[in-house]
Amino acid sequence: MLGLGKRETQFYLFAGKGGVGKTSIAAATALHFANRGKKTLIISTDPAHSLSDSFETKIGGEIQKLRKNLFAVEIDPKKAMSEYKEKIMPQIEKLDFLKGLGLEDTFDFAGNTPGIDEMAAFDKFLQYMQSKDYDIIIFDTAPTGHTLRFLSLPDVLDSWVGKMINIRLKFSGFINTFKKILPFGETKKDDQKLGTEQLEVIKERIEQARKILSDKEKTHFNLVLIPEAMSIYESERSLNVLKEYGIPIETVVVNQLIPENRKCPFCTEKRKLQQERTKEIRNKFKDYKLMEIPLHKEEVKGFGMLEKVGKELYS
Ligand SMILES: Nc1ncnc2c1ncn2[C@@H]1O[C@H](COP(=O)(O)OP(=O)(O)O)[C@@H](O)[C@H]1O
Ligand SMILES: [Mg+2]
Repeated sequence: MLGLGKRETQFYLFAGKGGVGKTSIAAATALHFANRGKKTLIISTDPAHSLSDSFETKIGGEIQKLRKNLFAVEIDPKKAMSEYKEKIMPQIEKLDFLKGLGLEDTFDFAGNTPGIDEMAAFDKFLQYMQSKDYDIIIFDTAPTGHTLRFLSLPDVLDSWVGKMINIRLKFSGFINTFKKILPFGETKKDDQKLGTEQLEVIKERIEQARKILSDKEKTHFNLVLIPEAMSIYESERSLNVLKEYGIPIETVVVNQLIPENRKCPFCTEKRKLQQERTKEIRNKFKDYKLMEIPLHKEEVKGFGMLEKVGKELYS
């Protein structure tokens, strides 16, 4: 910070069920920091391009400047997946001998199940995490459950299984090199050796990310919920999963609180129920900072509304 050009990036992540307001709150947070002179990047992996909708600006797969200090990118999970499949999955798929060790669920050998695009997107997250170009990096939609299992990859690679993978890959690399010097046979490029290196790079990336994610000084993990039973249950589950991975939650954001309106009996009823749920939330999540945002009659999109929500959050 002392003019050395080295930044200590702060990370903000938002988790919660679909529709509770993660994208809106992440975007409002990004705008808030950008307005305060922090160079901010917001990243989304939502294939529905919700970030573009939120900022009312077309974003896309390359980092784009939206205004002063505000940058955004929408990772295309399909594209991330094909890149990932090309690079990593062939290496893992080749390892037939690993099947039956109970690792299939975690590392998706077939590469066809829906989880792999999440993992690929998460791997992109991890890549951006290493970037030193921003003061603030915000992830709209934090990894939970399935994707977080990815964080255990370094342990697996370090275990005897990992050692076997390495030996096996190195050995095949050796054979491939041998083939190249022989005058007969196919000259195939030495892609197996490349595989070991790539696995090392990924392992390194995950280990660093794990360190950052569990560091309270750097990571601000927020749970977004609405004052409804289902949303509360889901948040409790997420909280437990995060605990398992040693990732601390900082703030619980209660969104869409119905404002008082005596002329509307429906609103009054609904508000009463919400207040009961909010009480429950205050009880259940008393160890965390709590933020509350009212339900607006307008949709939260466009810079004006995002600024308004940003003020509700941070002033
Ligand atoms: N406090 C709020 N008041 C009014 N509308 C809101 C509020 N928070 C979110 N919304 C609206 O709810 C919808 C879902 O929000 P979004 O941020 O996309 O949720 P998520 O990313 O969690 O799926 C959007 O149309 C958004 O404009
Ligand atoms: Mg969203």
